[in-house]
Amino acid sequence: MKVLSVFGTRPEAIKMGPLVRALEAAPGIHSVVCITGQHRAMLDQVMSLFGIQPDHDLDVMVANQTLNGLCGRLFAKLDALYEQVQPDRVLVHGDTSTAMTAALAAFHRRIPVGHVEAGLRTGNLDQPWPEEMNRRVIDVVADHLFAPTASSRYNLEQENLGGRITITGNTVIDALEQTVDRIDRDAPLRAGLDAAFPFLTPGRKLLLVTGHRRESFGDGFANICRALAELARRPDLEIVYPVHLNPNVQGPVHQHLGGLDNVHLIEPQDYLHFVRLMQRAHVVLTDSGGVQEEAPALGRPVLVMRDVTERPEAVQAGVVKLVGTDAARIVAEVGAACDAAPTPARFRPDASPYGDGRASARIVAALRGVPFDEFVPGLAADALSTPSLTEATS
Ligand code: UD1
Ligand code: UDP
Repeated sequence: MKVLSVFGTRPEAIKMGPLVRALEAAPGIHSVVCITGQHRAMLDQVMSLFGIQPDHDLDVMVANQTLNGLCGRLFAKLDALYEQVQPDRVLVHGDTSTAMTAALAAFHRRIPVGHVEAGLRTGNLDQPWPEEMNRRVIDVVADHLFAPTASSRYNLEQENLGGRITITGNTVIDALEQTVDRIDRDAPLRAGLDAAFPFLTPGRKLLLVTGHRRESFGDGFANICRALAELARRPDLEIVYPVHLNPNVQGPVHQHLGGLDNVHLIEPQDYLHFVRLMQRAHVVLTDSGGVQEEAPALGRPVLVMRDVTERPEAVQAGVVKLVGTDAARIVAEVGAACDAAPTPARFRPDASPYGDGRASARIVAALRGVPFDEFVPGLAADALSTPSLTEATS
């Protein structure tokens, strides 16, 4: 069976990396990888980390791309690719423009589609925008729906879709486990990673920030930057923000926060460095989907600068809190979380609501028609729960 995996952004590559490796090792599967290059620089970092050599590179990215321009280039190039490769199945991940167009282009050619990370929903097409739409379109056309959790399966069941649904766990926990394992086993590697952040000293707390959501462009970003500038007045904090390469993010972030001594606006980090930063963080402040899944598995308290999330599990467990994009609220919530005692930074895949490190193996088994047990979280909510976050902000 020829399985063509198509992906093009950083988060997709992190979550497809372990699955591609598992497909390559699986009997009876001929794995072919196409990257679209939607995020050129940030994608290449991840490909080399997982040791994946793409068979095809569509190289669609242009500076400051519009969504319609991007989707147009993707449709044209994917159609020619499918003609050339003649895959038996296409696999896509998540919610990106790359994933949506790859699924729809396959549907137009009557090629079966598998959706990895199916069924995430907020129920609101504006948040996250345009990703909620991308997810729904993919799930309509896919015949294999790999739901990470029971709640994502429930969302899919509500929509009466035609695809077969299985609960696999999220491959992000596979990627995280493999990466943490590398860092924990290799002291020189760890020292090398830490050497990249000389400004992090034991006496100061690390507030790790990521923020790039399109629905926050404009006022939302201005608020977020104002909040960070206010928090930077605290002498006990080092604020580290790897800034997404989108010019709509780079512009306001550098304008509002450039030049503050304890605010470190750094390049997007490769996954090893970023995981190390999460391990060392006192608190993580983010609007990213993947970070909402990873940081709780590392025992880090997470505050999410969004009003709704398609990943409710960690919110329900009390380790992620939605704080919106109001500056005063962010300052109050982050301040309280920073004042709380540090929580132990331990990787606990057995306590993650999102996965147990075996999602890729389950997806491969499902594709091969081999029996497997669905993912059930070994969730001891109290094992996962970081009391500092819930107490400090309740
Ligand atoms: C976001 C989503 C993406 C989704 C898209 C539309 C994330 C991380 N990304 O993309 O999954 O498909 O909205 O749904 O949530 N750039 C670079 N180098 C890079 C990456 C980006 O220079 O490696 C710059 C370019 O100027 C590019 C711009 O960022 O034109 C925007 O990238 P794009 O992929 O269109 O938007 P995102 O907001 O990252
Ligand atoms: N990440 C990374 N380097 C960074 C920032 C984030 O490797 O400098 C990783 C992070 O661990 C997570 C993913 O990138 O796995 C999240 O990507 P992003 O925030 O771009 O997108 P989202 O998860 O919201 O789709």
